[in-house]
Amino acid sequence: MKTVSISLSPNTEKDDVCLALKELFVKEKIKGKSINEFEKIFKESLGFEKVFSLNSGRSSLLIILKALEIEKNDEVIVQALTCNAVINPILKTGATPIYVDIDDTLNIDPTLIEEKITKRTKAIIIQHTFGMPAKIEEIKNICNKHNLYLIEDCAHSLLAKYKNDYCGKFGDVSFFSFGRDKIISSVYGGMIAVNNKNLYQQIENAYEKLDYPDKKWVKKQIRHPILMNLFILPLYNFFNLGKIILELSLRSETLSKAVCSLEYEGILPDYFPRRMPNSLAKMALNQFKKVERFNSHRREIAKYYKKELGGVFEINENAVYLKFPLIVNNSEYILKEFKKYNILLEDGWTKKVIVPPKTNLKKMNYTLGESKKAEEMSQKMLILPTHINISKEIAERIVYILKSLI
Ligand SMILES: Cc1ncc(COP(=O)(O)O)c(C=O)c1O
Repeated sequence: MKTVSISLSPNTEKDDVCLALKELFVKEKIKGKSINEFEKIFKESLGFEKVFSLNSGRSSLLIILKALEIEKNDEVIVQALTCNAVINPILKTGATPIYVDIDDTLNIDPTLIEEKITKRTKAIIIQHTFGMPAKIEEIKNICNKHNLYLIEDCAHSLLAKYKNDYCGKFGDVSFFSFGRDKIISSVYGGMIAVNNKNLYQQIENAYEKLDYPDKKWVKKQIRHPILMNLFILPLYNFFNLGKIILELSLRSETLSKAVCSLEYEGILPDYFPRRMPNSLAKMALNQFKKVERFNSHRREIAKYYKKELGGVFEINENAVYLKFPLIVNNSEYILKEFKKYNILLEDGWTKKVIVPPKTNLKKMNYTLGESKKAEEMSQKMLILPTHINISKEIAERIVYILKSLI
């Protein structure tokens, strides 16, 4: 059986591999018409007035914070149980991330926000964790009351809905990610969407100053779906050949890492912030055309997991279930056992309140003990894949194995 993975190029289908192969030989990888095409279809499909494409969610958030003139001595509220890719742009501006604990939905607990607001607070970032919308209305009311900007982090929630409109339509400004294991993937990619008309010009001014990434960086991303799907995943356990190819490709920088070592220590590498290059826009556009099918599939697989395994997360038609979280007491053991069946469930979103687990919490301005629920959940969380390459048969196999382990 081909290796099943939650995070190694999960969304890629044959047409994506073919597109990437062609793109390797295209001369103009940086500028081109796919950028405008992708921005246009994205903007019109979600009903935004203004969008700006970038090379990652990280870049998008940094540009938003700069445009909002967030700087040293300012504070930005975020939820605990997040990714260092959210915290590092805040640190880059010189501002301080202030953590609020989560509730049972893995999203920020609105009842705990106000006690963290000070004179220095400038903005609240809400994350719709794993595609399950946060309690936007309550949080928006808090922002209005205290005159704070609301930034929606839609990295996990492309086309998720809250009260009949898309996540991303409620904040002053929002951002999306098209990273390798997100709702759609161009390996690296992001989008800013602006709702507050007063911010159009500020965001545009900050964006105008940006460069494109260099060709070498872009090629690294184009190779990702090709190497993963033609060599690494099919050969993963064949005398460990796939594993070895992956390791060598990362070491030789033939492929990129999702998070580089500097980022664990609170430093954004210099290829952020950048604009989205044409080749990646082409790949993202191809995926975007398939997003409704991807998300219906995710919802069906999530429904199946819920029916078979239960768990505290309710299934509803508004969420998009990038992944399906379960709370278990022996996640470490389960992950190890699944490897024996050639199923890789390790995706970096466990063990720490700021992931990946190698992240230095001190550098993130996080003190152990400050968000108890997030710390507890991160220890007990097991995350199941829902992506388009998880067939019903694979999901059944995952459930069957899991039932024997919990
Ligand atoms: C919740 C969340 N927000 C933001 C990001 C940043 O997105 P990107 O990887 O495109 O920089 C990520 C992923 O890394 C994420 O998981």
